[in-house]
Amino acid sequence: MKTVSTVSELKIQVRAWHQAGQSVAFVPTMGNLHDGHSSLVQEASKRADKVVVSIFINPMQFDNQEDLAIYPRTMEDDSNVLKAMNTDLLFLPTPDIMYPKGLDNTTFVEVPMLSGLFCGNSRPGHFRGVTTVVNKLLNLVEPDVAIFGEKDFQQLLLIRHMVADLFMNVEIVGAPTLREPSGLAMSSRNNYLSTEDREDKAPIIYQVLSETKAQIKAGDRDFANLELAAAKRIDEAGLNTDFFSIQNAANLSDAQSDDTDLVILVAAFLGKARLIDNLFFEV
Ligand code: PAJ
Repeated sequence: MKTVSTVSELKIQVRAWHQAGQSVAFVPTMGNLHDGHSSLVQEASKRADKVVVSIFINPMQFDNQEDLAIYPRTMEDDSNVLKAMNTDLLFLPTPDIMYPKGLDNTTFVEVPMLSGLFCGNSRPGHFRGVTTVVNKLLNLVEPDVAIFGEKDFQQLLLIRHMVADLFMNVEIVGAPTLREPSGLAMSSRNNYLSTEDREDKAPIIYQVLSETKAQIKAGDRDFANLELAAAKRIDEAGLNTDFFSIQNAANLSDAQSDDTDLVILVAAFLGKARLIDNLFFEV
């Protein structure tokens, strides 16, 4: 695995592959890699000849400086995980490379409407930071395909909109959410949980998601009532629900009884951690 930090090293390598007729798949990450990330790298290696992974803890997408400061940094372990998976190139840019004029003076990309809902409502500016950095990374790496997790459903939807709206030449692929045996979606933020919270409390999120999905599939269309009952159960398990919402999966508008593609979006606090998850399905 080649590890590079500069734009010129990155471009020389990727262009050499493209000139040799080899396709490139890209997996952007913020590091602290777990099996969920690894599954994206695996998907990438199925879809192209060469795999590029980036690790960049993007300051622009953190609405809270404390959250940025404590975000886990595990570069040595991450590098070993990626080497073991035969990653071809690891790109490690610095904030100065990504934001040479500073965060307040950079050109940004924002997807209207969708970026202000749900996680965007709870974390102002978050999605502007995500779409801006993903746009920059895609422009630098110039991959044929880029892989994102369905775990971050709203993020994936925004990236698809950005790529379509700006006619970007890259295929966006969504990959399924990897879960712990308890059902808890794997996340770097799970590291903030005590063992007890992780094993006994956090799994309620996926349990309630699955049960609500089953109720909808069985014909229940009283979405408001389902949402209230679900949030209550999550709160009673000792979490603090930020939102539990049943939405149209294509545009995140409130679900209507004749919608066929639905997504249930959930965010809940457990101690210091804000956990998110979702389930999308056809009815
Ligand atoms: P990060 O949280 O490191 O996630 C990197 C990628 O891994 C994202 O596409 C995310 O959806 C995916 N992922 C996380 N947990 C997963 C799981 N349990 N199963 C499958 N995939 C999972 O998301 C970001 O970084 C950043 O916002 C980024 C896109 C890199 C822009 O900075």
